[in-house]
Amino acid sequence: MTFSARNILAACMVLMVTLAGCQQPQPQQVRTVEIPDGEIDPTLWGKAYPEQFEMWEKTAIPAETRRSKYKTGLDSSVIGVDKLSQFPYMALLFNGWGFGVEYNLPQGHALMVRDQLEIDSSRLKAGGVCLSCKTPYAPGLEKEMGDDYYRKPFMEVINKIPEENRELGVACIDCHDNKDMSLRISRGFTLVEAFNSMGVDPSKLTRQEMRSAVCAQCHVTYNIPKDKDGQSIGLYFPWQNSEFGAITIEDIIEQIRSDDSIKEWTQSVTGFKMAFIRHPEYEFWTNDSLHFKAGASCADCHMPYTIAGVFKVSDHRVMSPVQGEMKACKQCHASSTEWLKERVFTIQDRTVSMMIRSGYQCATVAKLFEMTHNAQKEGKVIDQELYDKAKEFYEEAFYRSLFIGAENSIGFHNPTEGLRILGDSIAFGSRAEAYLRQALAGAGIDVPMIVDLEILKYVDQRGEKAIRFRPELEIPDPSGIQDRFF
Ligand code: HEC
Ligand code: HEC
Ligand code: HEC
Ligand code: HEC
Repeated sequence: MTFSARNILAACMVLMVTLAGCQQPQPQQVRTVEIPDGEIDPTLWGKAYPEQFEMWEKTAIPAETRRSKYKTGLDSSVIGVDKLSQFPYMALLFNGWGFGVEYNLPQGHALMVRDQLEIDSSRLKAGGVCLSCKTPYAPGLEKEMGDDYYRKPFMEVINKIPEENRELGVACIDCHDNKDMSLRISRGFTLVEAFNSMGVDPSKLTRQEMRSAVCAQCHVTYNIPKDKDGQSIGLYFPWQNSEFGAITIEDIIEQIRSDDSIKEWTQSVTGFKMAFIRHPEYEFWTNDSLHFKAGASCADCHMPYTIAGVFKVSDHRVMSPVQGEMKACKQCHASSTEWLKERVFTIQDRTVSMMIRSGYQCATVAKLFEMTHNAQKEGKVIDQELYDKAKEFYEEAFYRSLFIGAENSIGFHNPTEGLRILGDSIAFGSRAEAYLRQALAGAGIDVPMIVDLEILKYVDQRGEKAIRFRPELEIPDPSGIQDRFF
């Protein structure tokens, strides 16, 4: 790793913070107590570490006040929980499978399995594999059941977990070694393999790198390979073409476009079989972001140090730093709460404005493909070369838009990279549109200047879930782009 002026600056900042801390009465470090091997139950870990246990339990409690602009602050009665209402273009693009029916913003860690049991059952069709980022029992089940773990129905696999812990989300054992409480990766079958696939030995990661790697067990994109009958046969992260600190969207797209076994769904508007991208927080943030380069970690911003009784501890009530009144940022920044919050919101506004543009561009191209396919059914001849180019560019545009839409910080984790990706998405999408318009014109078909997206049709197709679509509560759209499509 190179040691640039910026690294040195960052090191100095950390040192300053440490020195400043020395002037206050020194809080005690937590003493380590050995936990029996294989113990999963957090209440038993909690007997040794009551401070962390108490904070960890609080991830089940919704925040009292909503401070975030684009996040809900956990209150499921407000609209923001439903991503398809927040960004209706997604209802069109994801139509064809579970994500087009119900797609929610994340909530607290303690709720992960409960939320899974409540979500529309179409989202659980892949089977037991869906438990991989939810229950601390996943590594054990994978080992014990082998291929059946991935393939068997979700309910059948979850029922193998002891009933009292069935709804348990991420637990101490997922992030900690039971002997000395050092950080550890419990998901060898996913994350260790993914690191290995880019030539990284995870046992050599530094402590600071581990403070992000534990989160990378779940806050990453993944793919579920299927056999010829559509049954799940595995799980992997598409990092094969990448390097540590540079898992780019280009690398990911190259991987997912080249592997036919991970074309998990068919987009109904275009009829294309496609891969999918989920919550790529780790990939996006580690790809050359300012904070990654400065030596920060996920835990620095989402688990800030705090005092519990006489102990200096990491805040195990993992949440948005905005919900946490920017306390995490102030470990390194001397700026005011308001200033820091403004920075976050400005970055998010700019990202959302570009994301909406890219989303509606993709939706427009998807509808043009629908028109093209209908024309072909009526016997019209479409220029194949133009069609193939349009399809290639459409996929490039779609996956980029999907990547940023699925990333949970709305651009904050890597602002300039976010805008670069969305700019490229719009450019690819515009070219795809031009090719298709040319192909349709060549076949004698008149294409209207403004393509009717029929967005509300896709929103309504969600059946009872669509009740939650309330345009009057829509998240503000800084550029006004979204309104023009209704
Ligand atoms: C075992 C998988 C797993 C691990 C490990 C994990 N997370 Fe999560 N995280 C999730 C899931 C799943 C959700 C969404 C839960 C829901 O909506 O029910 C989530 C939600 C969140 C949220 C949103 C919380 C809120 O209140 O809205 C934040 C922030 C977060 N995680 C950060 C982290 C950080 C930082 C780490 C590492 C220290 C981490 N997570 C480790 C799976 C994980
Ligand atoms: C420099 C600080 C910083 C770092 C480092 C950081 N985050 Fe974030 N994260 C944020 C901010 C700010 C938001 C936006 C929160 C909001 O809008 O309320 C956010 C949002 C999130 C969310 C969505 C939270 C929610 O309430 O829906 C998740 C999940 C998340 N981050 C996970 C991670 C993971 C995993 C890492 C490491 C790979 C990471 N973050 C690194 C600052 C950071
Ligand atoms: C999502 C990952 C994650 C989970 C789950 C988790 N921790 Fe931690 N824990 C961390 C991180 C990150 C640190 C900071 C470690 C470091 O900097 O070396 C930490 C630190 C600690 C420490 C050292 C003192 C401190 O607070 O910094 C203790 C003790 C601890 N955790 C106990 C627990 C217990 C008990 C549970 C379960 C109730 C738990 N942890 C669940 C990630 C996690
Ligand atoms: C671990 C320390 C650390 C934490 C925690 C941290 N930052 Fe930073 N931040 C830095 C460093 C170091 C830089 C780079 C300073 C530089 O080189 O100019 C930086 C840069 C920034 C910048 C870019 C300044 C610019 O215009 O180039 C913004 C904005 C920012 N941080 C906001 C935040 C917010 C908001 C949070 C909390 C969610 C946060 N930071 C948390 C260390 C941190």
